[in-house]
Amino acid sequence: MARPDPHSHFDDSQPRTRRWRLRLRADFERRILAGTAELELDGRGGVLDLDTKGLTILGAASGGAAVPFELGPDNPVLGRRLRLSLPAAAKSVSVEYETSPSAAGLQWLGPEQTAGKRRPFLFSQCQAIHARSVVPCQDSPAVRVTYEAELDVPEGLTAVMGAGPAGDAKGGPGRRVFKFAMPQPIPSYLLALAVGALEGRDLSPRSRVWAEPATVEKAAWEFAGVEEMLRAAESLFGPYDWERYDMLVLPPSFPYGGMENPRMTFLTPTLLAGDRSLVDVVAHELAHSWTGNLVTNANAEHFWLNEGFTVWAERRILKKLKGPEAASMAWAIGQKALDDELARFRDKPELTRLRLHLEGVDPDEAFSSVPYEKGARFLTALERAAGQEAFDRFVKEYLKRFRFQSLTTEQFLAFVEEKLPGLLAKVGAAAWLDGPGLPEDAPRFASPRLDELSALASAWRDGRRPDPAAAKAWSPAELLIYLQKLPKRLPEADCAWLDETFALTGLGNYEVLVQWLCLAAASGYAPAFPRIRALLSEVGRMKYVRPLYQALGQTPAGRALAREVFASAAPAYHALTRRVAESVLAAAPA
Ligand code: BES
Ligand code: ZN
Repeated sequence: MARPDPHSHFDDSQPRTRRWRLRLRADFERRILAGTAELELDGRGGVLDLDTKGLTILGAASGGAAVPFELGPDNPVLGRRLRLSLPAAAKSVSVEYETSPSAAGLQWLGPEQTAGKRRPFLFSQCQAIHARSVVPCQDSPAVRVTYEAELDVPEGLTAVMGAGPAGDAKGGPGRRVFKFAMPQPIPSYLLALAVGALEGRDLSPRSRVWAEPATVEKAAWEFAGVEEMLRAAESLFGPYDWERYDMLVLPPSFPYGGMENPRMTFLTPTLLAGDRSLVDVVAHELAHSWTGNLVTNANAEHFWLNEGFTVWAERRILKKLKGPEAASMAWAIGQKALDDELARFRDKPELTRLRLHLEGVDPDEAFSSVPYEKGARFLTALERAAGQEAFDRFVKEYLKRFRFQSLTTEQFLAFVEEKLPGLLAKVGAAAWLDGPGLPEDAPRFASPRLDELSALASAWRDGRRPDPAAAKAWSPAELLIYLQKLPKRLPEADCAWLDETFALTGLGNYEVLVQWLCLAAASGYAPAFPRIRALLSEVGRMKYVRPLYQALGQTPAGRALAREVFASAAPAYHALTRRVAESVLAAAPA
């Protein structure tokens, strides 16, 4: 095979990159990174194809001599192939380039989009295939690199990366240069950087949270339990291999809940609920340190190996820290997400398989909860069939065998068959992997509390209401499950009753808040509109933006609000968020 990844020009018969040396200057006026990427190679020389997207290539050199290069045609998903003709046995190549102001992997924020409102901000989000808009590289998880980097930024701003800090020094006038070294080999999609007015708070000897000064105290309180989580994860999955586990809380436009950048998880500020109720996202990103970052999917067609494994691992951590009941609730919330996604992909059942065929398909378009929740359920099926002890042993062996490597579904299956012969047949693995939807015999997660809440919600139509006094004591997860099970639209008086009883519009927990706002939007409940408008003008997390625009699409008043908010907020949205909102609006009736 020459090109093992449908989303990359990486050719495994060509030289392989071993290490990057990045020297980049962040120009906040032009909104570009400019500088050089030196790629250290395995010494084969000859033709080298790299991925680029929106990059301006200014020159290439190897061993002091210019290297001829050629940029291929622009593909809207893959970008442009950069073909370098290297001398035989070339040990490295240095590419001088600039990023584009609209680089898909970067978001440049004006001061007004930050918590402090005084300084600009820059962050990267490279997964799935956006590293190529930041660095010319073999942008496939089949290739791993170590790196060193220097980021030259305006004085007064701090640069962080998913790497170890290696000092900082005065740069040119009004500039500061931050240095980094990444000793553990990573796939390109885990390249991560951020620049802003940042402050750190230590949470343990190996963990620190970074955020803007206005949010850093709140963040330190919210995530204070991280060391306990690290220990729980280590007891389940083996030693933590990345030395430090730091976190960065981004401005609200960050398009995901969390991103497992090694040594520096990136997090949305919507996790700062004030009651630590959303730290399962941290458990998830931390779990990726084993499943995803240490053992990595070979390409996006095997994405379930990253995310399904990580959801399963996240819930093992949760069970260990908070008990089986809390874990069951998390599984139930996940089931709802899965049901919704299976409905959204009704017309594209091929995207609800675990093993995907993504030739010509944009991974951002294929993204859904299916690899997460279906994948985690497949692993639970294996876990239940093997027995807890045998499966835990298997997982540790798996992590050890494929440590710092990437693998395909087929390699995973072969390893299961080797270690636990007959198990795949026993759970009907073929239906899980290549069949659409969820198999009939998929694992269920029993929880008496869940059954009570479901029964209570189903009785809504018969006029049954929770006792307001008792309901005040519900946990956010209980309230979320209850709201999820209510009818999708309610009359105004019912909305008002809910809002008042549970003080919904003022909630700090975004999971519950957005569940409520979706119900309110779909019901055309106008008193909630100002909160919806404010949220959609600020928060870029796609998990919230998509369902909110969708729910607004269901009434004429909602559609008017959606169009108005989009027109004013879209210029400041992250490119991914803008695309999601646009596609939902385009599907709504006129
Ligand atoms: N790695 C993902 C985020 C991602 C996936 C970014 C694909 C780009 C392409 C991250 O670990 C994740 O799954 N985040 C979830 C949180 C989670 C608790 C399921 C999110 O952002 O909601
Ligand atoms: Zn994940």
